[in-house]
Amino acid sequence: MDRVDMHDLIVDDRVRGIFRVNRRVFTDPEILEEERREVFDRSWLYAGHESEIGDPGDYVTRRVGGRPLILVRDDAGAPHAFLNTCPHRGNTVCRERAGSTRLLRCFYHAWAFDLTGRLAGVPDDDAYTPAFDRDALGLKPVPRLESYRGMMFVSYDPEIESLVGYLGNARDYLDLMLDFGGDEVEIVPGSQAYSMKANWKLLVENSMDGYHALPTHQRYFSQYLADIGMDASNWAGPNRIQGIGLALGSGHAVIENRARALPITGTAKEELDQIRARLVERVGAEHAHRIADYSRNLFIFPNLILISSWHTIRTFYPLAPDYMEIDAWANLPRGESGELRQRRFENFISFLGPAGFGTPDDVYALEGCQRGFAAWREVSWSDISRGMGRARPSSQDELQMRAFWRRWHALMQGLRGPTDCSDCPEQREAAE
Ligand code: FES
Ligand code: FE
Repeated sequence: MDRVDMHDLIVDDRVRGIFRVNRRVFTDPEILEEERREVFDRSWLYAGHESEIGDPGDYVTRRVGGRPLILVRDDAGAPHAFLNTCPHRGNTVCRERAGSTRLLRCFYHAWAFDLTGRLAGVPDDDAYTPAFDRDALGLKPVPRLESYRGMMFVSYDPEIESLVGYLGNARDYLDLMLDFGGDEVEIVPGSQAYSMKANWKLLVENSMDGYHALPTHQRYFSQYLADIGMDASNWAGPNRIQGIGLALGSGHAVIENRARALPITGTAKEELDQIRARLVERVGAEHAHRIADYSRNLFIFPNLILISSWHTIRTFYPLAPDYMEIDAWANLPRGESGELRQRRFENFISFLGPAGFGTPDDVYALEGCQRGFAAWREVSWSDISRGMGRARPSSQDELQMRAFWRRWHALMQGLRGPTDCSDCPEQREAAE
């Protein structure tokens, strides 16, 4: 097999305004291995939300960065993230997706661990010699676990900078995403878990791709929204509202559009008005406008997307160059009425998920790209130049994708310092 020269995989010509990505990056198993080492294992990865493990003993299990994890809250209230593999002979210690327990007991030989991961019980342990070290045989924690406003991130790099430092300029946008419900937001029980026969980086691009929305999701924008009484000219035609795209540094990025309120009436509308009034009281009218009247897709490098229109948290991980698994959750204000919740769910599933008007379109599009990449040797480059060099790129442009690719490219070449993710100095100023 010919060796990959990472440097040649991306053409980033800021003078001529051309940005191209070699399609080999979507198909090559060697590149995926390198991504696991250089990108995923050196980043902060979203693992879960503290509201999912609200009480001592509550736990959830999931795969994060390719490893099986247990997220559990101990008796003192502290969250932990343990690798879900038994120190005895390797079995999965916790087999359920979620639950509540006093002891985490391995099914295979019944070793049991307390909520801080300490080995608490070994059946027939008089068979072991004095050298058998119980203290060293607890559940292994991930090297780093930090939370930001309830969002738990893990890293497999013990030396990584703090989570807040890593978030950098993206933190302000994360705050805007989370402020809509105050600090009282919670993950709604249950998730959407699905997969795609497509490279994971295609979903990074797609999740903040304003350009695809109208042609790909035609039914949603020109039929469904019109059917529920919304003005389709907001999205199509010469008067459509233009949003912005920003590179936030370190590969993070955001697209932002003016939000259009859904036609909600009755008591749910009154409740929404009260939520707005409380928000204005808390942060002032101007900041409340900034929080509530814009829709944003925020990308946190390398694999986390928050979408404000549906209050969604979405993350994904590749199992093969042409296959990824995706998990998505709804993140909503605690304590709202059943009726408002129902309206929010309807909004969520009208676009997202297997029966939505959005997700199946995107799966179809991305799997189609992946099929096309079988011809990568003959048709070798994807173009991501849209809006390149514009001082104020729109959400229909592709700066937000170039930001991801520039950071990805730097890490894949072993460059560890900060990465300039913008096309030009004006864009850098706009993001600060
Ligand atoms: Fe877990 Fe033996 S593998 S107790
Ligand atoms: Fe889409």
